[in-house]
Amino acid sequence: MESERERLHQRLAAMDARADAGGGEDRIRKHHEQGKLTPRERLDALLDPGSFVELDRFVTHQCHDFGMERQQFLGDGVVTGYGRVDGRLVYLFAQDFTVFGGSLSGAHAAKVCKVMDLAMRNGAPILGLNDSGGARIQEGVVSLGGYADIFLRNTLASGVVPQISAILGPCAGGAVYSPAITDFIAMVDETSYMFVTGPDVIKTVTHEQVTKDELGGADTHNRVSGVAHFKVPDERAMMALLRELLSYLPSNNMEEAPRRPTEDSPQRKCPELTELVPTNPNKPYDIVELIRALMDDHRFLEVQGQYAQNIVVGFGRLGERSVGVVANQPAHLAGCLDVNASIKAARFVRFCDAFNIPVLTLVDVPGFLPGTAQEYGGIIKHGAKLLYAFAEATVPKVTLITRKAYGGAYDVMSSKHIRADFNFAWPTAEIAVMGPEGAVNIIYRSELANAADPVAKRAELVADYREKFANPYGAAALGYIDEVLRPEDTRIRLIAAFDSLKNKRDQNPPKKHGNIPL
Ligand code: HXC
Repeated sequence: MESERERLHQRLAAMDARADAGGGEDRIRKHHEQGKLTPRERLDALLDPGSFVELDRFVTHQCHDFGMERQQFLGDGVVTGYGRVDGRLVYLFAQDFTVFGGSLSGAHAAKVCKVMDLAMRNGAPILGLNDSGGARIQEGVVSLGGYADIFLRNTLASGVVPQISAILGPCAGGAVYSPAITDFIAMVDETSYMFVTGPDVIKTVTHEQVTKDELGGADTHNRVSGVAHFKVPDERAMMALLRELLSYLPSNNMEEAPRRPTEDSPQRKCPELTELVPTNPNKPYDIVELIRALMDDHRFLEVQGQYAQNIVVGFGRLGERSVGVVANQPAHLAGCLDVNASIKAARFVRFCDAFNIPVLTLVDVPGFLPGTAQEYGGIIKHGAKLLYAFAEATVPKVTLITRKAYGGAYDVMSSKHIRADFNFAWPTAEIAVMGPEGAVNIIYRSELANAADPVAKRAELVADYREKFANPYGAAALGYIDEVLRPEDTRIRLIAAFDSLKNKRDQNPPKKHGNIPL
């Protein structure tokens, strides 16, 4: 009897060993040589020690074509299950490139769908560790169907639980559309790539010569296309990034992000901010310096830091609570809004709103970037995305104008009129329809033409306009600005403002969904 029990246990142990072996020693060695970790090594680096619980370890594919019935790997190229990050539940799938190149079979897709369904039912984030040659070629349409099953779940989970995609190897063809629907994509430099059609197809169709890395590497998608949100140097850095990102997010759309205790006092003054904004309105300064000065422990996780650098978005904490920060960057394109900046910020604001993360908006914007490239590129509809995103957001919204807030960009950047809760300005704020030079050119055209000394007259009129309009007091007189702050008091005031808004309840009219100008 005892030996029968032993035999049964040995059988399980042998099955476990087969599952753990992935695609076998040789393939794992090759994988390691490329600087890549196996799925279980990745999960070990990502999750709280000992917290991973694997599901479907013994799943196998059901394909009987191309001799596939003779090639069975337990788990079928993906490790799935749940675990903890800082004690908080997450569901995950980690593709195993050592098994059929991590390609997606019907069984592989069903495993991924199972953890996605569990994540939705239990209100926990979904993390995808992607490393796959795409559709399992031998399975044909079964594999395509599997992808569509995942895409549907990505779409239904959007705005319900955070979805994060780590790209740790190939991600090609239609496979890219699962990460693309998720909230954040992080890529490892040099070992990961994403594209819809690869270099060979491109060469055949358009005769363009391009390498995999140039076409869809981490640098391309972080700097050029804006498809990715983060670039990390290696897989260890990836796992640290995922943990940090999760720390700012709630587990689902019914919860708030966890509070993170800090020694950094909510009463801390920021004297270094007094001189941050140059007196010359044409001189740049780095808005990230301001963000770091304001945040708890000076910590700020920038999102899409290499893309559309004229706007900065990312996460920090004020008074122990997560905030999403959206800030014009005067050090890049003078902080103008353009197509890419509008899209980048709009998606970020919508993420924050979906997940109850209050939004802090820092404004120093001379307006929309002029030019045919922008107009032909659709700045009207793309700028409208940002306006729409801020206007529909019902989370606590606090805005600070540090310097310029001109024209339509004043309205767009979370102004009082589109339901910001508190609007602050520094004494250096300039709030008007346009800058003094442009305004004087238009409204005093004939006076300037007839002036004995046009240069002196112009200087006088500009100074006059600046005194009258290029300041925060006109807006403050109308209640569009709630308070003109001394820069050193800004952190204290922002924390008090967000604290007073912590029970904010606001709603949009009932509807199936709006029609954001896509
Ligand atoms: C089945 C695959 C596979 C796939 C790789 N393998 N991709 N098996 N289906 N899609 C297997 C290989 O046969 C090989 O098996 C092992 O994985 C490793 O592949 P290698 O080619 O040796 O690795 P490497 O040189 O690193 O090249 C990786 C690669 C290449 C660039 C990903 O394998 C490749 O081009 N694969 C095909 C990619 C592709 O066209 N996929 C379909 C895309 S379309 P052995 O046994 O030798 O270890 C798509 C549509 C999705 O995905 C649609 C959704 C709507």
